[in-house]
Amino acid sequence: MTSSGSAERTLVLIKPDGVRRRLVSEILGRFERKGLGIDAMVLRRMDDRLADQHYAVHLAEPFYPGLRAFMTSGPLVALVLSGDGVVEMVRGMVGATDGRRAVPGTIRGDFATSGRENLVHAADSAETARREIALWFPGLD
Ligand code: PPS
Repeated sequence: MTSSGSAERTLVLIKPDGVRRRLVSEILGRFERKGLGIDAMVLRRMDDRLADQHYAVHLAEPFYPGLRAFMTSGPLVALVLSGDGVVEMVRGMVGATDGRRAVPGTIRGDFATSGRENLVHAADSAETARREIALWFPGLD
């Protein structure tokens, strides 16, 4: 799917808990209703190698082995969203990392009660988004 020209883009993952809990349409619907473009989307599994590349900056964190086990535990949905200011906008819609602290009205605030199983990943900067989009969707123009 391609919906935009040169608008800012971000990389989002609906994590395995989101797929298991049948929340894909709920989460995707929020981004659509907000008015963001979907430039690419795929259902796939993350293997250990892709996890280590995606989370390269977190490899040494004590929580990383658990995060990797969770992220490789089932299929996830990877998507590229586009729109002006989309990186910051989507981070706001996703909410704080720990679902127990995330504000109601955000995705995690409404649906997550865990620090690990927090439903969604969203790139934290335009530079990170470019790196992650190249990793998940090589060749996307
Ligand atoms: S964030 O959302 O990127 O600002 O979160 P951050 O605090 O920098 O954490 C980076 C990613 O690590 C995950 N994380 C954890 N996973 C499992 N257990 C613990 N304790 C934990 N703490 C942080 C967090 O969900 C981030 O993953 P992504 O996929 O980027 O959301």
